[in-house]
Amino acid sequence: MRIDILTLFPEMFESPLSCSILKRAKEASIVEIVLTNIRDFATDSYQKVDDKPYGGGPGMVMMPVPVFGCFEHVQKLAPEKGRLILLTPQGQKFNQGKAAELSKEKRLILIAGRYEGFDERIRIGLDAEQISVGDYVLSGGELAAMIIVDAVVRLLAGALGDEDSPKDDSFSNGLLEYPQYTRPEVFRDMKVPDVLLSGDHGKIAQWRRQQALERTKKHRPDLLRRNNKE
Ligand code: ADE
Repeated sequence: MRIDILTLFPEMFESPLSCSILKRAKEASIVEIVLTNIRDFATDSYQKVDDKPYGGGPGMVMMPVPVFGCFEHVQKLAPEKGRLILLTPQGQKFNQGKAAELSKEKRLILIAGRYEGFDERIRIGLDAEQISVGDYVLSGGELAAMIIVDAVVRLLAGALGDEDSPKDDSFSNGLLEYPQYTRPEVFRDMKVPDVLLSGDHGKIAQWRRQQALERTKKHRPDLLRRNNKE
């Protein structure tokens, strides 16, 4: 997969992309991530990318000229058209299902905005899918882009080591993940449940399913209601 990220702050991505699973996936050529600075496409001598909103109001708005210039440049960097995504709190809420859907694409192009938001003609003219990572406002789309990149890349074949698997992850089966334990067997008077030491795989699977259900019922009953509706 190729992921292009259009941003005013490419340096924000350096550390997340150079650790752990994302680092390994890049090194194994499972994913190629290309950062492009929107500011390089500003057309005036001050490299201006934002301006005051027409009609008044607080803050600054991302100008369409540098965003379009940057997108049109990036689009030509690879043969696939790619799936274009604008990060914005006004978008559709991101979840594991969307991560799985995006992981099937050959190319993603993510646009991270700053300031009060995008000039509306960016949304209209680029006809991009709009995604939000949650009902809160970040200072920009960069952290949202990183969340999407991380959630998508770990689903790509070979991104996780052999011993790991995303199939039991929380949300992948509509439930939160069951409790996990590792050594020691007893820690500060808390003992690993006997069933996990029993070696009976049928019983272990049954216990895990039950725990996942109970945990979901307690912490995220909305997931159960949603599953029943679907
Ligand atoms: N930019 C600012 N807040 C955001 C959010 N919640 N999701 C995606 N992009 C954003």
